[in-house]
Amino acid sequence: MEKKIVYSAIQPSGIPTIGNYIGSVRNWLSLQEDYDCFFAMANLHAITVRHDPALLRRRTLELAALYIACGIDPEKCTLYVQSQVPQHAELCWTLNSLTYVGEMERMTQFKDKARNHADNINMGLMDYPVLMAADILLYQTDLVPVGQDQTQHVEIARDIAIRFNNRYGETFRVPEALVRKQGAKICSLQDPLKKMSKSGENPNDSIFMTDDRDTILRKFKRAVTDSGSEIVCSEEKPGVSNLLAIYCAFRGCSMAEAEREFSGKGYGEFKLAVGETVADALSPVQAEQARILSDKEYLGGVLSRGAERAFKAARKTLSKVYRKVGFYQGE
Ligand code: TYM
Repeated sequence: MEKKIVYSAIQPSGIPTIGNYIGSVRNWLSLQEDYDCFFAMANLHAITVRHDPALLRRRTLELAALYIACGIDPEKCTLYVQSQVPQHAELCWTLNSLTYVGEMERMTQFKDKARNHADNINMGLMDYPVLMAADILLYQTDLVPVGQDQTQHVEIARDIAIRFNNRYGETFRVPEALVRKQGAKICSLQDPLKKMSKSGENPNDSIFMTDDRDTILRKFKRAVTDSGSEIVCSEEKPGVSNLLAIYCAFRGCSMAEAEREFSGKGYGEFKLAVGETVADALSPVQAEQARILSDKEYLGGVLSRGAERAFKAARKTLSKVYRKVGFYQGE
């Protein structure tokens, strides 16, 4: 039987946080065993806000090395850089004509980014979800493992796929978002009602995947907790609940187990335990990432093989799309 197809990506727009790890990469690890997985460095998406070209290039490679260091196996998955597969931009253009401006204006992330980058509300920022739809649909994806903040974009990819199929005949598989119940939204350590983000202004909001042990312990020590002293997961305790979710993700335990472990303990001890768990987990990943990054030949080989595999799959879908919409492709 043919394996189902999984697609996901991260933007190399900053240093990934443990939110990116918990909400996405961690969930890819088990999927790579049973599915045909495509994991990309979404660098085309990363230029929708102002960026430094040299840094973008470096972050792209760092992200690739991080995927592998986290356990993504390039022999099992297709690991590639989005800009190396031109079909993404080509399909995006085609899908643009089936997408309404009003739909894009309603996207939560667009509204947030337009607010935060009021002097640079460019077409790319608005078109971002269509490019993401193109990423997903190019590979005839079944499942898209993402964090909660990306579900609206997967939803629009589904709408666009259905719209295209209705207009031109069956062409795209209609994908589904795969969102874990726990860890789908890791929040800022300073403001637990806000998402932890790689592009946040205050570095104390986030634990970056490259933070060293002291930094990690310090950030957790300063993390905002809630009134009261009980260590339980509840809506009234967003700070404690967030720390518990982080702890569970790195420990691989359930919420009930974590609550039991910290029952009767104080916030200080709890935050230290979370910090140590995260630092212990990240330290080998960081060493492995550095090792992979220094082996340029290996990493270059992985990415060129990945781009080749992705290109073949993408070309097949795009050629079908072009035929359906009536683009001349030679005799
Ligand atoms: P990006 O780079 O913002 O985030 C990458 C992945 O991490 C998840 N995530 C989180 N999960 C839990 N808690 C958080 N605080 C947190 N922050 C981020 C995101 O949900 C995402 O899964 N547009 C996408 C990248 C992309 C993509 C795609 C994803 C481009 N094409 C096709 C899936 C399919 C983005 O900017 O993600």
